Amino acid sequence: MTDNVLLQVQNVTKSFGGVSALKGLSFSINQGEILGLIGPNGAGKTTTFNLIAGVYKPDSGVITFDGKKISGLRSHKVAQAGISRTFQTVKPFVRMSVLENVAVGGLFGRQHVLSVSLAKREALEILSYTSLENKAQLPAGSLTLAEQRRLELARAIAAKPKLLMLDEVMAGLNHSEIMATLQLLRKLKFEKGITLLVIEHVMKAITQLSDRILVMDYGEKIAEGTPLDVMKNEAVIVAYMGEKGSRTETESPTKMDDYRRET
Ligand SMILES: Nc1ncnc2c1ncn2[C@@H]1O[C@H](COP(=O)(O)OP(=O)(O)O)[C@@H](O)[C@H]1O
Ligand SMILES: [Mg+2]
Repeated sequence: MTDNVLLQVQNVTKSFGGVSALKGLSFSINQGEILGLIGPNGAGKTTTFNLIAGVYKPDSGVITFDGKKISGLRSHKVAQAGISRTFQTVKPFVRMSVLENVAVGGLFGRQHVLSVSLAKREALEILSYTSLENKAQLPAGSLTLAEQRRLELARAIAAKPKLLMLDEVMAGLNHSEIMATLQLLRKLKFEKGITLLVIEHVMKAITQLSDRILVMDYGEKIAEGTPLDVMKNEAVIVAYMGEKGSRTETESPTKMDDYRRET
């Protein structure tokens, strides 16, 4: 293990009743890295986020962040340690303004902002960073899906995380919205030095964005490597094809998203 490992997940297991959601998962993320997390529906990606974020405790295994054990900590403690996340289903406070939603993120983050007015000032900066400044006073419920996903991001950024975990922030977005999101995520990496763990089904986006990709299926890691290596990996191709048929020569890896299993 090298010095610049920020997050380490070691042999983590989690069951829900009879369902084995994670079966001894291990991986690590280096400081400043963008790690993509992909896999068919039900693979265990969101569960991985929930375990890191302290929503659930692992049944076994250890998660360390920034040199300290975080598995077993409550979610607010994990947030204070410097991990923030977005949710697969956007859930802003719909009646609060866009600005207030982001300010709330700042009030509960790593460096507690003590006053509401300071939180709002910081929130305004983040809104301009995420191109939402002209929506600041609108109720969050009035935003389009793309804007709500950007708001989720803004709220998570307001907590000033070292590690930001994004759960399908590009789902349902059109091409130009996806391009804008990719640009924003790169800015977070290169300008703010934030380390990113990104769950994404939009294959073209995740392969462009990630330094490294981890592929899960049935609660296990089935591949890990550069985007190019992973897309050529036999086990990955099989996982994405499911029972729907065999691969033909003309199918490109960027089309694998078409084969995701539905649950
Ligand atoms: N809170 C929960 N209660 C029961 N089963 C769950 C819960 N969360 C996840 N699961 C199950 O764990 C497995 C992995 O789910 P999930 O992590 O959401 O997969 P993914 O995000 O990769 O689609 C699925 O079989 C899912 O039904
Ligand atoms: Mg999920």
